[in-house]
Amino acid sequence: MTAVETSAAEVVGRTRRSPLARAARSVVLSGLERYVAGGELVLELTDGSTRSFGDRSGPTVVARVEDDRLWSRIATRGRIGLGESYVEREWETDDLPGLFELLLKTGNDATYRAGVTRLNRLQRLRPRLSSRNSLRRARSNIHRHYDLGNDLFELFLDESMSYSCALWERPDESLAEAQQNKLRRLCERLELGPDDHVLEIGCGWGSFAIHAAREHGCRVTGLTLSAAQAELARGRVARAGLAGLVEIRFEDYRLTTGRYSKIASVEMIEAIGHRQLPVFFAACDRLLARDGAVAIQAIAIPDERYERYRRTPDWIERYIFPGSLIPSMSALTTAMTKASRLHLHGLEDIGPHYAPTLREWRARFHARVEDVSRLGYDERFIRTWDYYLAYCEAAFRTRSLFDVQLVLTRSFNRSLGSPKIIAA
Ligand SMILES: C[S@@+](CC[C@H](N)C(=O)[O-])C[C@H]1O[C@@H](n2cnc3c(N)ncnc32)[C@H](O)[C@@H]1O
Repeated sequence: MTAVETSAAEVVGRTRRSPLARAARSVVLSGLERYVAGGELVLELTDGSTRSFGDRSGPTVVARVEDDRLWSRIATRGRIGLGESYVEREWETDDLPGLFELLLKTGNDATYRAGVTRLNRLQRLRPRLSSRNSLRRARSNIHRHYDLGNDLFELFLDESMSYSCALWERPDESLAEAQQNKLRRLCERLELGPDDHVLEIGCGWGSFAIHAAREHGCRVTGLTLSAAQAELARGRVARAGLAGLVEIRFEDYRLTTGRYSKIASVEMIEAIGHRQLPVFFAACDRLLARDGAVAIQAIAIPDERYERYRRTPDWIERYIFPGSLIPSMSALTTAMTKASRLHLHGLEDIGPHYAPTLREWRARFHARVEDVSRLGYDERFIRTWDYYLAYCEAAFRTRSLFDVQLVLTRSFNRSLGSPKIIAA
């Protein structure tokens, strides 16, 4: 008997002994029976049998249950339990993004939602970990993700170290080219020139700051809350010969003073949480010169799901980006209107480009997985990140999430070109 067979047999034994585990299994299986649609889910169970759910109207995805502890985890902890059980190797699949696509379609279906209301109510009793994001909390949250180590991020990002959605103008472009397109588009939206001084809130490893200074000759002050990131970004700026134009600060945007002709913020606003949205827009208003403009790239969740999502614990928030929350468009515009004189001048959804961005990151992560291990990350970490990247890829592919480039300005600003609203 192999090790896997032994553990499966033990688990079956455990399941037989526990009525609760049996009940959990039947709750989950009957939930799948009733609600999976738009594709087929084939589950290989630990007793050797196979169960099939859904229909053939979409792709078939096969998943193998390796440990029956998965049932009670999912029954009691919902989506968080599903992620935790994957990390614990309680199930496997050869097509993680495909499985998420099917589950996301199912999860967004109205009948399914009605059916799981009671379970959701139970899960809502467990609030999100932290929603305040005080100065101290924000720094520790960012530290937990970004200070994992620059060498980890270098393994899977492109050479510009852009950690946000790329933009393909032609399908044959590389990830690095698509990232440059995204940066160029943001600079064009801001109509940057050599007289500008841009404040970049959430500068990451400096990709936007370097691009803007190199291509447009403007000054850029970039802010990050990750010490490791700031150090590498400064080195990259110096190596690009742009130290005279670009300053990278380890600083919370809430403490920043001064006046900037333009503000850019690329996928940073997801880090701050609901309560801080008005604080963010008030800061933009305070820091932006007259006739200035703000370009924000933000991941967004459809409005109709926002209230439920922000009150429900979330696996990504718990295990990947502590303190994070994906805003909806109306949450953004409501906070902006309440706290600032800014209004929406342009909008483009580049969300469809996020699935290929994430697919590339995940493929690179897998190709370098031995290097990831050599850096000291264990199997649980690797499975956590695999789950994170695959889940996000599916969320963008199914349009459960989108990604918007917004241009904001104040009334009577005649220095910007005509407004644009573009949906992908
Ligand atoms: C997803 S990364 C995006 C980085 C970069 N814009 C890019 O596209 O590659 C989010 C960035 O926001 C920064 N950040 C988050 N909260 C911040 C805060 N309160 N003040 C300043 N920077 C913050 C993080 O340190 C990180 O650099």
